[in-house]
Amino acid sequence: MTENYRQLAGKSVVITGATSGIGLAAAIRFTQDGAFVIGVGRSAARIDQATETIKAANPNSQVVFLLADLGDQDQVHELGDQIRAALNQYGYHHLDVLINNAGVYLEKKHITADGIEMTFAVNHLAQFILSHELFAFLQRSKSGRILTVTSYSHRITPLMLKRITNPYPYISFLAYKRSKLCNILFTYEFNHRFTSVEAFAVDPGLVNTRLVSKGDQGLFAWFGRRRILKGTSTDVPVTTLLFLSREDKIDTSNGYYFKGCQPQTPSSKARRRDLALDLWGLSSQLTGISCDE
Ligand SMILES: NC(=O)c1ccc[n+]([C@@H]2O[C@H](COP(=O)([O-])OP(=O)(O)OC[C@H]3O[C@@H](n4cnc5c(N)ncnc54)[C@H](OP(=O)(O)O)[C@@H]3O)[C@@H](O)[C@H]2O)c1
Repeated sequence: MTENYRQLAGKSVVITGATSGIGLAAAIRFTQDGAFVIGVGRSAARIDQATETIKAANPNSQVVFLLADLGDQDQVHELGDQIRAALNQYGYHHLDVLINNAGVYLEKKHITADGIEMTFAVNHLAQFILSHELFAFLQRSKSGRILTVTSYSHRITPLMLKRITNPYPYISFLAYKRSKLCNILFTYEFNHRFTSVEAFAVDPGLVNTRLVSKGDQGLFAWFGRRRILKGTSTDVPVTTLLFLSREDKIDTSNGYYFKGCQPQTPSSKARRRDLALDLWGLSSQLTGISCDE
């Protein structure tokens, strides 16, 4: 039994987007190290494949998958119910770590059934809803944490909240960058409001995954695909996710934005309280969630 194994045994971890890329790599590593993992995916076939891959890496893996389209707010609320039920069923009456990892890059504008541009809906609003759905369970952990996977690309990005639900013109890479800025603003505002659960934003660096190869193709996706090939292996961000999940106490004197297991300084815009408050207000309005500790 390794040191790491002991540190994650008995911990419960939810990972969204656990069917590919960083999320799947994290699910493999966290289960190998003894955690009970609830993975979330949007396709039954890819869930089956991911389960097989995780079990092949470690037949004793404690993993269950739940199906939800995070672009649909009703499904995110139902997912919250299902996660709580699964935690209770497997004897975990708390949640140690929520990893908000699922994300999309969309070359063309898509509007969800809730009438919201999909990049913003999946990359930010779903995480906002799920974090609140699971808040009470996170509070019951000795050190409940929310890790939200953001990106270096949050820098030099206009936020434009007035048009964020239906941006016009739609520019794919700006929609993506904006959503990643929202991840950090959410994290900082969460920590302003709550003390019983800590939130961190994780910058994975450039990682070789299929993020920009999915869905519509176009000029920006073509550049993105070529660029991402130069990325690191998924092991690199997983190391930071592990660090933030298993350390008893994280030194947050330098903030909550981490890369390579170290705190980094996000853009000045990502640290603006006025923007964080405006985003929180809009997110509450769009999801119907109002929250206090
Ligand atoms: N790769 C990089 O260089 C990089 C850099 C910075 C930040 N990130 C961030 O890292 C996170 C993971 O991305 P990745 O690179 O690992 O890409 P990925 O392999 O495409 O993983 C994205 C995951 O999200 C899931 N997903 C997408 N839309 C969903 C929806 N509507 N409902 C439920 N699940 C959904 C995907 O499911 P499917 O398997 O069904 O597609 C997949 O499991 C994202 O938040 C991304 O923004 C990545």
